[in-house]
Amino acid sequence: MYTNRKSYILKLLLVVFVVYGFVHVFTNSAVPVIREMQESGRNLAALGSANLGSSGFEDITVKDIIPAVDPIKNYIETHQNVVMDVQPSKPVPSIIDKVREVTKCVDKPMVPKIQQRGDYWVLYNYITAEISHRCHESITYTTHADFSFMDNLVPLLERWNGPISIALHAPGTDFQNTIDSIAYLRDCTTPMVKELVTFHIYFSTKHVPKEVPKEDSLFAEPYNCSLVPPFMNFSSENMYKAQKKLLYPVNVGRNVAREMAQTHFILPSDIELYPSPNVIEKFLAMIAENKGPLLNKNPRVFPLTIFEVSANQQVPENKTQLREMLANGTAIPFHKKLCPGCHTVPKAKEWQSANETEGLHVFHVGKRNGKFVHWEPIFIGTHADPLYDERLSWEGKMDKMTQGYALCVLNYDFMILDNAFLVHKPGIKIYKKDPRRAMLAGKTHQLINKIIFPELKVLYGVRKGCAV
Ligand SMILES: *[C@@H]1O[C@H](CO)[C@@H](O)[C@H](O)[C@H]1NC(C)=O
Ligand SMILES: *[C@@H]1O[C@H](CO)[C@@H](O)[C@H](O)[C@H]1NC(C)=O
Ligand SMILES: *[C@@H]1O[C@H](CO)[C@@H](O)[C@H](O)[C@H]1NC(C)=O
Ligand SMILES: *[C@@H]1O[C@H](CO)[C@@H](O)[C@H](O)[C@H]1NC(C)=O
Ligand SMILES: *[C@@H]1O[C@H](CO)[C@@H](O)[C@H](O)[C@H]1NC(C)=O
Repeated sequence: MYTNRKSYILKLLLVVFVVYGFVHVFTNSAVPVIREMQESGRNLAALGSANLGSSGFEDITVKDIIPAVDPIKNYIETHQNVVMDVQPSKPVPSIIDKVREVTKCVDKPMVPKIQQRGDYWVLYNYITAEISHRCHESITYTTHADFSFMDNLVPLLERWNGPISIALHAPGTDFQNTIDSIAYLRDCTTPMVKELVTFHIYFSTKHVPKEVPKEDSLFAEPYNCSLVPPFMNFSSENMYKAQKKLLYPVNVGRNVAREMAQTHFILPSDIELYPSPNVIEKFLAMIAENKGPLLNKNPRVFPLTIFEVSANQQVPENKTQLREMLANGTAIPFHKKLCPGCHTVPKAKEWQSANETEGLHVFHVGKRNGKFVHWEPIFIGTHADPLYDERLSWEGKMDKMTQGYALCVLNYDFMILDNAFLVHKPGIKIYKKDPRRAMLAGKTHQLINKIIFPELKVLYGVRKGCAV
């Protein structure tokens, strides 16, 4: 009895000690970033927790870690009715004329349509941006999310300053929260939301909302801006998606957003990745110049280097500032510690030590092979690039690998840009082990190996050094 009790106390002490040590180590590292090893490096990590309910991993966001700031108040103070001095980017006419000549692109109208896509209903161009773009005039940032991620939209717009095409997963009762979130962003933040953002909505045919208003009856009343937007006050467990244990169909969203973009050049990305300012004008100027590696015959995409910064830091404004932050440890390359192979770009060290220069150029032309065989680059590309496999879910991981394989076999050049980069929304996320996700990842691995990979070999062929 006594010894039992003694060993119990010892065990308890041991547990307390281990837990303390764990917390201590993780909260004291220079940039305290703890991430689950993510083979495919998705950024919308918190989406998973919603699907997994209480048996899944906990997702502790920045909001939990910094109690001193009321996140709702802070968001509203910094984002409501922001008067931004930025105007939607307008590249120089002579440059965009040249872009049209070089790309021979074709303009696309922005027309709402309801259409089925596999197991999903899609409301394409459900809420369209007021400013329409000709194909050579800009670059469209294309992305996917659900309403719980829409706090990212204004900071993203402030930096991108150009068209955004976003596909929102909104099954069942998540639909109304999605509409309210859009209404809040359009009526209560910056006019750039109405001007530049086109929203598409999709949901499974098994989870159609009770009511879907026609585009023209939406937003008849202005949104009451005193109300807290749904994306600032929600619990993941109460989302419809979580209650029904739905998977997040990340690649349906990616493809919908991409296909609807009006411009020739697109930046398919994750909504928490904010680009460095002025990418659009500088990139189009580079395209118009059309020299050096741009004259290569291979198909090409233009990857951006990705970084993350600690929670209390500003997102750097330019490469000079980014390099200072890398030097003092407030910024680090994305997933540096846990999955260097996923996001490290070729010549990353050289990139980081090179001074900022004028304009935008190709820093290095790399390939997705050798050390970079599992690289999941985020890049500026075009509609000609392979899409994403819609059978893959966010929870199952490896959701961009099949596209990567196709790019490799098609002999794409990866033209890394010198002064442009992406920074993840500042903050720390902590994950626990997630057995359900590990199980789904195992199934996805099998699906890719047994079914998808053989298909890709038939469709695209094989090339030495390419792998999924
Ligand atoms: C807007 O919401 C606030 C807070 O709930 C409420 O007090 C106010 O009456 C509402 N205004 C309108 C016009 O509905
Ligand atoms: C957040 O939502 C809950 C439940 O819907 C509500 O009771 C609460 O008043 C909301 N908080 C704010 C600050 O609006
Ligand atoms: C970079 O941004 C910082 C902070 O906004 C600014 O002070 C600096 O002048 C900028 N440097 C360059 C080269 O643009
Ligand atoms: C790191 O550098 C950035 C950019 O120069 C600066 O804003 C920040 O205060 C620095 N932080 C520390 C801890 O030195
Ligand atoms: C980079 O910029 C710094 C500060 O402006 C300068 O001292 C240094 O010589 C530059 N390095 C190169 C290789 O141009």
